[in-house]
Amino acid sequence: MKTPNLCYSIILLFLSILLPCSILAESITENGYEGFLQCLHYQNSNTNASIFSVLYTPKNSSLYTSTLQSGIQNQRFTLPPFVSKPLVIITPLNYLQVQSVVSCAKRNDIQIRTRGGGHDYEGLSYMSYYPNPFVVVDLRNFISISVDTKDRTAWVQAGARLGQVYYTIAQKSPNFGFPAGLCPTVGVGGHLSGGGEGTLSRKYGMAADHIIDAKVVNANGEILDRKSMGEDMFWAIRGGGGASFGIILEYKINLVYVPSTVTVFTVNRTLEQNATKLVHLWQTIAPKFDRDLFIRIIIRQTTQEGKITVQAAFNSIYLGRADKLLRIMKQSFPELGLRKEDCKEMRWIEAALYFSDLPSGSTVNDLPRRDPYPKTYYKAKSDYVVEPLSETALVGIWKLFKEPRAELAQMILAPYGGIMEEIPESEIPFPHRAGNLYQIQHLVYWRPNNNTKSQLYIDWIRELYRYMTPFVSHSPRASYFNYRDLDLGVNKEDNTSFAEASAWGFMYFKNNFYRLARVKAAVDPTNFFRYEQSIPPFESF
Ligand SMILES: Cc1cc2nc3c(=O)[nH]c(=O)nc-3n(C[C@H](O)[C@H](O)[C@H](O)COP(=O)(O)OP(=O)(O)OC[C@H]3O[C@@H](n4cnc5c(N)ncnc54)[C@H](O)[C@@H]3O)c2cc1C
Ligand SMILES: *[C@@H]1O[C@H](CO)[C@@H](O)[C@H](O)[C@H]1NC(C)=O
Ligand SMILES: *[C@@H]1O[C@H](CO)[C@@H](O)[C@H](O)[C@H]1NC(C)=O
Ligand SMILES: *[C@@H]1O[C@H](CO)[C@@H](O)[C@H](O)[C@H]1NC(C)=O
Ligand SMILES: *[C@@H]1O[C@H](CO)[C@@H](O)[C@H](O)[C@H]1NC(C)=O
Ligand SMILES: *[C@@H]1O[C@H](CO)[C@@H](O)[C@H](O)[C@H]1NC(C)=O
Ligand SMILES: *[C@@H]1O[C@H](CO)[C@@H](O)[C@H](O)[C@H]1NC(C)=O
Repeated sequence: MKTPNLCYSIILLFLSILLPCSILAESITENGYEGFLQCLHYQNSNTNASIFSVLYTPKNSSLYTSTLQSGIQNQRFTLPPFVSKPLVIITPLNYLQVQSVVSCAKRNDIQIRTRGGGHDYEGLSYMSYYPNPFVVVDLRNFISISVDTKDRTAWVQAGARLGQVYYTIAQKSPNFGFPAGLCPTVGVGGHLSGGGEGTLSRKYGMAADHIIDAKVVNANGEILDRKSMGEDMFWAIRGGGGASFGIILEYKINLVYVPSTVTVFTVNRTLEQNATKLVHLWQTIAPKFDRDLFIRIIIRQTTQEGKITVQAAFNSIYLGRADKLLRIMKQSFPELGLRKEDCKEMRWIEAALYFSDLPSGSTVNDLPRRDPYPKTYYKAKSDYVVEPLSETALVGIWKLFKEPRAELAQMILAPYGGIMEEIPESEIPFPHRAGNLYQIQHLVYWRPNNNTKSQLYIDWIRELYRYMTPFVSHSPRASYFNYRDLDLGVNKEDNTSFAEASAWGFMYFKNNFYRLARVKAAVDPTNFFRYEQSIPPFESF
């Protein structure tokens, strides 16, 4: 492995060479395009639902633009130089259409980008940095969820959003839940195939830990389930990212038990209110709490009495009642000073709303909505902490957070421990288990009217990441795949070497990267499903 710093500068250099030329490149092969459409026509001529009613090209310009844009979560990717130019966008109505898109695209050397909820932090579900033409397969019509309360399982289509999943499950029973992310608009396709974590992860692990079956279209255009794909590929699509292996149509998941009443709280402390000492202390106690207790911290800039300072929000859910929570807190974390009036008892689904950040006034019924938020501009990175940071190290973070560029920045510290300590690293591709105290998500947002200065904010988050280097995991410096970050490395479109891909591969997957590369070689040897951070096919490890 290269050292992170060296790696970093090489990657930046590489990205800066790669970006301007390839995004703007339009080496559209007319023949491939015509061939693709003809192939679709031929393959769909016997079916009633015409694929051409859900196929958009730049020629149907307003539909093309609105279909493309409405699935883009991060506004950063709606402006130059990030202008996405898929040849075609298709919103399939049935699985046969998905199969024909795959086989026709493969035959005509057209790449595929599959879009679930469109939350990819680098826009890779609808954008390509490569010159090869591509089609976006947007799964917005695949949103059905069927819950089997007897089996405690559900089949969930890949275009469904987490909020809809939670809502549908809770309608069946207040005692069923699912351990996945906090943001209700995140899509099942990307989230579950890339891991998926949230407030229940200390108790139940990752969303992908609870996948028990799947339906996937592979590179040959066949629909496979767990049995027909085999355990290697089934392993890979539970954390290795779906887009390297095929198009996930649906997942079967196990539901988990949640009590009828849970308790939530948020306690804010600024630097003047002992935030440094509290965060420092939290680092070693939060991963050891009872696994029914999850307390994360959100670090933000704030103003207090006209002065810029830093706030740590202790944001928590306890899978039980308030009186018991207060007893636990009095014993394990009295320094936070949690009071009875800070605690709110509610149903689990109401807690999902509490953590959702939906606009105030929203109700549980808003959880399934696809576009409840005003869209913003952002960039994210991630880290894992294995040794507590010193107070001095924390003070250095605060310094960066007091800058104007950090006006809307956040650092989210999510405690690990609990069951995360017990699940073996190689159980699924997601490897970040025993030994991690907590995960950090670095996030910087900016306002649209500052967009011409996007680079300013991106520079800030890179500076923060550089600052964090000595304090976080190393060899490899671990990152969470679902918090995608192209600064870590980018594949060449053709013939990426294993060494090149390992720059980011080991950070996301540790040694599971070897098995992922072997599975890829077995199921997609020609590397049809490829993108900037797809698993490269390598057999011999
Ligand atoms: C606001 C916000 C909040 C978030 N909160 C959390 C959180 O609490 N916990 C957490 O773990 N993560 C969280 N994430 C990260 C999130 O899990 C990932 O971005 C996830 O990949 C998004 O899935 P998607 O389907 O919405 O995205 P997309 O952009 O549609 O897809 C992401 C990737 O998956 C691929 N993909 C999507 N669907 C399929 C499919 N059906 N078959 C094959 N490949 C597919 C895409 O091609 C792309 O490579 C958050 C992200 C955002 C933007
Ligand atoms: C197409 O429609 C006809 C008549 O409505 C129906 O009998 C047939 O089963 C349909 N075919 C498919 C493939 O859906
Ligand atoms: C968009 O245009 C293509 C031809 O370029 C056509 O085949 C398709 O049916 C059109 N889509 C819609 C939704 O009208
Ligand atoms: C904590 O601070 C956030 C802003 O940083 C604010 O939105 C929230 O209302 C505060 N919560 C409490 C309980 O004070
Ligand atoms: C900060 O800590 C000191 C001493 O540990 C304590 O006296 C004080 O009340 C705390 N302040 C707040 C706002 O909790
Ligand atoms: C962003 O824009 C706002 C409003 O235009 C301005 O007040 C702020 O200073 C800008 N921030 C930076 C870092 O330029
Ligand atoms: C792929 O790259 C390797 C070196 O990284 C080179 O030896 C090989 O010839 C290349 N193959 C093709 C098909 O370009």
